[in-house]
Order: sequence, then C-alpha cells, then structure tokens
Amino acid sequence: MTQEDYKVLYVDDEKVNLKIFELTFKKDYHIITCDDPQKALTILEEMGEMPVIITDQRMPHMTGVDLLEKSIAISPDSVRILLTAYSDTGDLLNAINKGKVFSYLVKPWEEVIVRTTLKEAFDKYFLIKENKRLVSELTEKVGELEETQQQLMETQDKLINQEKRVAIGNLAAGLSHEVKNQLIPISLLEFLRDEVSEDGIIIINQINESCNRIVDLIDEIRAISKGEEPNYSIQSMAVTKVIEESVYLSRLDPDVKPVHITLDHQYRGSVMMDKDKIIQVMLNLIRNAAHAVSKSDDPQITLKTERNGSFALLHIMDNGIGMGKDMLMKIWEPFFTTKGENGTGIGLDIVRRIVEGHKGTITCLSQPNEGTVFTFTLPLPNNELTR
Ligand SMILES: Nc1ncnc2c1ncn2[C@@H]1O[C@H](COP(=O)(O)OP(=O)(O)O)[C@@H](O)[C@H]1O
Ligand SMILES: [Mg+2]
Repeated sequence: MTQEDYKVLYVDDEKVNLKIFELTFKKDYHIITCDDPQKALTILEEMGEMPVIITDQRMPHMTGVDLLEKSIAISPDSVRILLTAYSDTGDLLNAINKGKVFSYLVKPWEEVIVRTTLKEAFDKYFLIKENKRLVSELTEKVGELEETQQQLMETQDKLINQEKRVAIGNLAAGLSHEVKNQLIPISLLEFLRDEVSEDGIIIINQINESCNRIVDLIDEIRAISKGEEPNYSIQSMAVTKVIEESVYLSRLDPDVKPVHITLDHQYRGSVMMDKDKIIQVMLNLIRNAAHAVSKSDDPQITLKTERNGSFALLHIMDNGIGMGKDMLMKIWEPFFTTKGENGTGIGLDIVRRIVEGHKGTITCLSQPNEGTVFTFTLPLPNNELTR
C-alpha cells in the first residue's frame, strides 16, 4: 500500500491547528487539510472516497457532527472522527448514537492518542473494504452457481427427454412392425366386400378406417421420436373452408359433439397450407379444447380468424379449466399429458411441428379456471398481400 491509500481529511477552522496536525503526521499519512466545512464537502466530492475524516466540532456555519453527517452520502465507507472539547459531550453522544462517529479525540489532542486512533481507524477502513469485496465476490459466485445449476437442470431435462424419445422410438418401431403384420389378415376383409350386405360394407369401411388410424398413430409416434419432418404439399386455400371442414369432422368425435362451437371469421381470404395437415392441427386443438370444457356449465369453443400483416391468425378459444404457468411450459413436450390413459401427449407436439413446417408460429395463453386460447399463424399467398 502506498501513502496515497492513507488519506486523512482534517477539518478545523483554526489554521494553526491544521498546520500542527499536518506537520506531526505527514510522514506517515497523506494529510489533506481544510479550514471550512463547506469547502471540505467540495474536496470530498472532488477526491472521491476518503478513508478517514477528522473534524473539529465547533466551527462557524456548520458543526463537525453536521459535516460528518453530510459526508456519509459522498463517502459512505469513511471512518469518521470528531474532535471535541470536554464541554461538548452532548454533541458527542448525539453523534455516536446516530452512528456517524467511529471515535472522538479530545482537544487539545495528544500525539500518541491520535496515532493510536488513526491506526485503529485505518484498520477499520480496510476491514470494511475487505468485507465489501468478499460480499460482492460471494454474490457473484452465488450468481454463477445459480446459473450453473439452471444449466444443469436444463441439460438433465433435455437428456431425460432424449432418452424418452429413443426408448419410445424403439418401442414404436417394434410395435409398428408387429401391428402391421397383425393387420394383414384384417385387410383380407376387402375380398368380402362383394359378398356382404350394405350394412356389412359400412362395417368393413369402419374397420378399414380404424386400421388406418392405428397405423397413422404408430407412424406419428415413430416420426416424433426420430425427429422426422413430414412432407408438405402446400397450396393456397380459403381459410374458412378448412375451418368448416375441421368443425364437421370434429363433430364426429363423441368428446367434441356436446360442445357449442362458434365461428368468428374476421378474415375470409386464402392462406398457404397443406389442407390435410392443418385439419389435423385443428382437430387436435378442438379436441383438447373440448376436453378442457368437459366439466364447464356452459361449454364453449370459439374459432376465430384474423389477418395480421402477411399472416392469417387462427384462434382456438375455450372457457375450460385453463392452465397455470408451470403447466404451460410443459404442454409442448412430446408425451406430456394430464389425461392419464386417455391421453398420448403427442397432440401438441404434432401441432407445433406442422405449424412450424408451414413457417407459422403457435402460442398459448391460459388462465386457470377461465380458459385457454391457442393462436397459430399461417402465411398468406402473394395475391392476398396486395389486397
Ligand atoms: N385447451 C386446453 N385447456 C387446458 N389444457 C390443455 C388444453 N390443451 C392442452 N392442454 C394440456 O396439454 C396437455 C398436452 O396436450 P396434448 O399434447 O394434446 O396431449 P393429450 O391431449 O393427449 O394429453 C393435455 O394433457 C392438457 O393437460
Ligand atoms: Mg390432445
């Protein structure tokens, strides 16, 4: 440490005192003197932090206690010492009680006592500094630690997800092979088509459809676990047509049937889409909404379209059970479901992939016990952009 680190500001209106103090201690300390408390504050502001401030109590215009009090805002870590006459004990007590003063010196001061006091003052000052440094180092370390922990948790989540995907992918691949083999004899039903009644044909059609759905479902699970992207055949198509077709199809679903669906077309133009894929998105979202309102007194689903710049917005709103923040973070994870055996947890993962495959985005807003809005965007065709 250099002498520069051992700065002492000494304030006294009697110039003789300043001179004596300076001459006595300048060998060991960097003494700065000042005969006016107001000027002393300016010096503090100009010099920045001052390790030790010693001031006489009785000065014209400003007392030593007032000066020390004002110095706190400018140089908070300073160690403050008051010089008093014996008769000033009232002021001294007041200053000590307010925590402004580290120590006091009685006038006229004795060199040995001042030396001891100065030494203690600097010990205290460097201790304050060291403490502050340690606290800030500690705060920084704690911050780093929290960040590391956060990263660790994220990595762990990803790993678990990855493991889940691989395990389910392997399972789905085996299952797919097995199920498809078992479906071969069922496909032989086609040969009976000419020999059965009209009712029989309806039954054969239903069986075929169910078989196709089983194969699709397993293929979808496999695609998800491998991270495969489906192929899209994207064309310009009226958004109302797709919505009405989705509503018609979802009405066949017994879970959706009892729910009142309202259409609110604010945009009726075309969008760029693979119709079958967007119907799949709508069916998934409508079905989820129907599940969410299943216990409502007045179950409502609203499908709304809007235009926003070069995109159409499609909203699927329900007044169902809604979701809290924690849940909203999880719903997009593949295989996350709150429906136990009745859910697969792949619906929203498929929905998100399809929407992103159309260069759109999907978001969800929800309030527990109030309802949920899923909103996805689809790009408009060029001929709509100029309208
Ligand atoms: N409209 C909604 N309202 C409340 N919760 C929803 C809604 N849509 C989805 N969820 C929640 O997200 C979860 C995941 O949905 P999804 O991926 O479609 O799988 P699944 O429907 O098979 O559970 C659901 O189990 C449900 O908890
Ligand atoms: Mg679902």
